[in-house]
Amino acid sequence: VCPPNPPADSDDRSKLDTWLLDDDIEVGIVGQGIVGAMTAKLVSSAGMEVIGYDRDKSRVANLRAETKDRPLWKIVDDSSCLANADVIVIAVRISAASQKPDLTSIEQACRCVAEFPNRNRLVIIETTLPPGTTRQLSEEHLNPHNNPRTQIAYCPERLKEGDSESDIRRTARLVGGLTPEATRSACFFLDRLGIEAHPVSRPEVAELSKLLENTFLTTGIALVGEITRIAHAIGICASEVATAAASKPTGYYPFWPGAGIGGHCLINDMRLLQKTASDLGVASPVIEALGTSCKEISPAVINFLTATMEQHEMALGNSRIWLIGIGFKIGSADISETPASDLVRMLRASKAKIVYSDSLVGTFEVDNLPVDCVDPHSWPADISAAIILAGDPAIDLSRLRSRVPVVLDLGGTRIMSGSNEGIIRL
Ligand SMILES: NC(=O)c1ccc[n+]([C@@H]2O[C@H](COP(=O)([O-])OP(=O)(O)OC[C@H]3O[C@@H](n4cnc5c(N)ncnc54)[C@H](O)[C@@H]3O)[C@@H](O)[C@H]2O)c1
Repeated sequence: VCPPNPPADSDDRSKLDTWLLDDDIEVGIVGQGIVGAMTAKLVSSAGMEVIGYDRDKSRVANLRAETKDRPLWKIVDDSSCLANADVIVIAVRISAASQKPDLTSIEQACRCVAEFPNRNRLVIIETTLPPGTTRQLSEEHLNPHNNPRTQIAYCPERLKEGDSESDIRRTARLVGGLTPEATRSACFFLDRLGIEAHPVSRPEVAELSKLLENTFLTTGIALVGEITRIAHAIGICASEVATAAASKPTGYYPFWPGAGIGGHCLINDMRLLQKTASDLGVASPVIEALGTSCKEISPAVINFLTATMEQHEMALGNSRIWLIGIGFKIGSADISETPASDLVRMLRASKAKIVYSDSLVGTFEVDNLPVDCVDPHSWPADISAAIILAGDPAIDLSRLRSRVPVVLDLGGTRIMSGSNEGIIRL
C-alpha cells in the first residue's frame, strides 16, 4: 500500500510554468460528446480559444450548426488541428461491455496527442477509467519517452446530463497528476475555468473515487429496488417507505423506487470497478451482486402493474399500455440502455400493445422492432394503463388521469403539470 503523497501545492502560482499563465493559451479537446462539448463551452466562456476534435463527422457537423454563436470554439474532424494546443483535454468513452475494458478509443486519442511532442503541454484526461489506466496510457501512448515538457493529470468529469455551466462550476473537480507539477498546472487551468479543484496525491485516487461515486448510485438504486420488492410482498407502498426514510436529516441518502438504471455510465462504471477488483484478486460480492439485483427492477414494475390492473378488473395481455418519457432519465433524449426497453420486452412477452410519447425522442426501437409513437395532444384511444417513466411536460396529469384508468408514476411526474391525485406509485 503506498502512503498518500502530500497533495500538490495547488495555490502557489509562482511555481507554475510561465506558458500556462499566458492569456492566449490554446486549448484542444479530443472527443466532442456530452463531456467534451461541455468542457469546450466552459473554456470558450472563460475567453480562451478552444479546438474541439471529434472523429465522428456527423457529430462535428451537428455541433458546428449548434455553436455558431461561440466564435472561440472551433470544431474539427482533423486531429492535426490540435498541433498548437497548450492544453489538451481527452473526453472520449471507454467500454466495459466485454471481458476486458476496451481502451481502443482512448489509446487512439492519446496517440494523436503524442504526435505533437515539441511543445510544453498539459494533458487532462476526463474519461472515466479503471485505476492505473492514466499511468499506463502515459507510459504506452501519451508520453512513452517521458518528455518532461508533457504534464499529465487525471480529472474525471462529474457532470450529470442536463447540468448547466454553472452547475459544473459548483462541483469541485478531482485532480490527480502524474507529478506534483501536473497536479498544480491542472488545478490552475481549472481555476481559469471557474472550477474549484480538489487535488489528490496520484491519478489512481481520482480514478477509484470516480468509480466509487457512480457505484454508490448504482448501489442505492439496487437497494431501493430490493426494498420495493419487499414492500410489495408485505403489501405496503415502497414510495411511502422511501419518503419516510428520507425524513432523516443525516446518515441517509434518499433513492426512490423507479424504473431502474439506464444510460451509458452507471452500469459501465460498475463493471469497470468489478473488473478492477477481480484483476487485483479482491473479493467484491456487493459490487458483483448489483448487476443481478438491478435486473430485477423491471419485473417488479410489471408485476405491480399487473396486480394493479387486476384490481381494476383488467388484464395486461392485449391491453394498450402508454409509456410516457422513454429517455434513460428525466430530461434526456438519450435512450441508450434506457429502462424503458426492458419494460417493452416484458410487456410484449405479456402480449400487451405498447405506444409511447416523448417530446425529446422521435423514434424508439427495441430489439429492432419499432414502438409506436403517439402524439400526446391527440390523446391515444383505448389506453388501459400509462407508465410515466421520464415523463413528458406536454402531457397534463389531471387530463391523463381522467382518461386512463391506471396511471403509474416511476418518477417522471416531477416535470409534468396537473394534479398527482389518483396516480399510483410503486
Ligand atoms: N455523459 C455524462 O453524463 C458523463 C458524466 C460524467 C462522466 N462521463 C464520462 O466522460 C467520458 C465521455 O463521456 P461522453 O458522454 O461525453 O461520451 P460520448 O460517447 O457522448 O462522446 C465521446 C465522443 O468522443 C468521440 N471519440 C471517441 N474516440 C475518439 C478519438 N479517438 N478521437 C476523436 N474523437 C473520439 C466520439 O465520436 C464521441 O463523439 C466517459 O468516460 C463517460 O463515462 C460522462
